[in-house]
Amino acid sequence: MDRTSDRNKTSPGERPPELAPDDAGFVEAGMGETDAVSLGELKRVNRMRRDFVANVSHELKTPATSLKLLAESLVEILEEDPDQARFFAQRLKSETERLAQLTSDLLDLARLESEEGLQNPAEVDVRSVLMVVLARLRPAAKRKNITLSWRRSGNASLYAILGDETQLTSMFANLVENAVKYTPPGGRVDVEGESSEDEVSVRVSDTGIGIPEGSLPRIFERFYRVDKARSKETGGTGLGLSIVRHVAEKHGGTVSVDSVVGEGTTFTVRLPRG
Ligand SMILES: Nc1ncnc2c1ncn2[C@@H]1O[C@H](COP(=O)(O)OP(=O)(O)OP(=O)(O)O)[C@@H](O)[C@H]1O
Ligand SMILES: [Mg+2]
Repeated sequence: MDRTSDRNKTSPGERPPELAPDDAGFVEAGMGETDAVSLGELKRVNRMRRDFVANVSHELKTPATSLKLLAESLVEILEEDPDQARFFAQRLKSETERLAQLTSDLLDLARLESEEGLQNPAEVDVRSVLMVVLARLRPAAKRKNITLSWRRSGNASLYAILGDETQLTSMFANLVENAVKYTPPGGRVDVEGESSEDEVSVRVSDTGIGIPEGSLPRIFERFYRVDKARSKETGGTGLGLSIVRHVAEKHGGTVSVDSVVGEGTTFTVRLPRG
């Protein structure tokens, strides 16, 4: 049975003990004027949910439609034009990867948003997380002839924080991946770490295309991309930076951005040590 519709049958005067977002529809119908502020908030949550579902459906539909078209074309030309068939098979593979990446990002985000705080915080060496991320992204940088550098200041022993290693890896991988993705061939991506008794901060700077000032406040939103057409080519879903912000905040930290169009972008993550 549908949980929500069952709830809607509760008599109007009765208020559920907790105002979970699920309850928004019901509470809205049964509330008095005194609750105007929370009513506004609930309406906003409801609208955000609707937008989110619409966005997800749209984002899933695009690769799903391409998969169907590509598979149909492949079947048609398989025998008469093997070269073309190989091309379609390759496209089929990259669209499938895109769909897999999208669903995995959505799952990560859903988990980050539903869990309160960190589940099993453990001591994590941010420096070694960065080494793993840099090693992972070095081939992509090399393919674009981008110099990927690492510089550390501050005591090496002060890079340990209490956190979630998988989340931190995904956060830094997203930032370095973006830097490589949005930097033209021949550019630079510099990762700099700094540690003190109080915090570890990491800067990821690139000499890339930059972000227009008007877009800066929106880039951490789910699905937001400065240039939709271009990011589609590069395989982006617009979820990376919302994951980054969630991870930074889960660790009690912050992420900020500075950018000049045509010159480059710097993201700074600050993570408290205490
Ligand atoms: N280093 C950067 N330089 C220039 N633009 C950037 C940079 N990082 C992010 N952006 C802009 O911010 C947008 C959002 O970034 P985000 O990482 O959330 O999405 P994405 O890279 O498009 O897709 P994905 O979900 O695969 O990461 C990008 O589409 C891009 O327009
Ligand atoms: Mg990204």
